[in-house]
Amino acid sequence: MKKITIAIDGFSSCGKSTMAKDLAREVGYIHIDSGAMYRAVTLYAMEHGMIEGSVIDVPRLEADMANIRITFELNEVTKLPETYLNGVNVESRIRTMEVSERVSLIAELGFVRQAMVALQQAMGEQKGIVMDGRDIGTTVFPNAELKIFVTASAEVRAERRYKELQEKGEHADYEQILQNVKQRDYIDRHREVSPLRRANDALLLDNTHLTREQQDAWLKEQFLLRVKE
Ligand code: DC
Repeated sequence: MKKITIAIDGFSSCGKSTMAKDLAREVGYIHIDSGAMYRAVTLYAMEHGMIEGSVIDVPRLEADMANIRITFELNEVTKLPETYLNGVNVESRIRTMEVSERVSLIAELGFVRQAMVALQQAMGEQKGIVMDGRDIGTTVFPNAELKIFVTASAEVRAERRYKELQEKGEHADYEQILQNVKQRDYIDRHREVSPLRRANDALLLDNTHLTREQQDAWLKEQFLLRVKE
């Protein structure tokens, strides 16, 4: 079977990473959550005092980009890749509300996007990869053999993130999460560099009323069609 590249884009919290992870595990592909990379840069900026409220010290961050090393390592127990920032596991720290509330500001900086896209393209050189994000099918891998654009209602997405945080034992406020989801949708769609949009050749998947199993089965079917071509 030939190896292909799979690009999964869409709105925040619509289950892109879950479906990407499930497929990658099943077919033995690498899964990269590109949002985790923007989150790691945000965490770095926060921990180095480069973000005050909603103001970023852009010149300092730009000068420091070469010192930000983002890698993924497989957790031997869960068999899932986890995000490392300069050699330190930051997988849970990048998922907090503090990071979620600031990451859009970082993700709209051209020099950050340039650095992340270069890293993502290098990770995908050998194919056999499922990458999820906002600009994977349009900018990172415009030649991907399979592109999916995922949507779901903002309310359903907020509900999913709320449950996710609760299950981890973290403080969660549904209304605050819903506002965050809507605000990020707006920023993702309207930013100047690589705004979120469906690639012309991407398949549209609205999973508002789909279970994880139904979604996984649909994706696997699309995958099999492409590798047999
Ligand atoms: O998928 P996520 O919620 O973890 O993404 C975090 C943020 O990163 C989100 O606000 C949008 C941004 N992002 C992006 O701009 N481009 C990507 N390819 C992935 C994420």
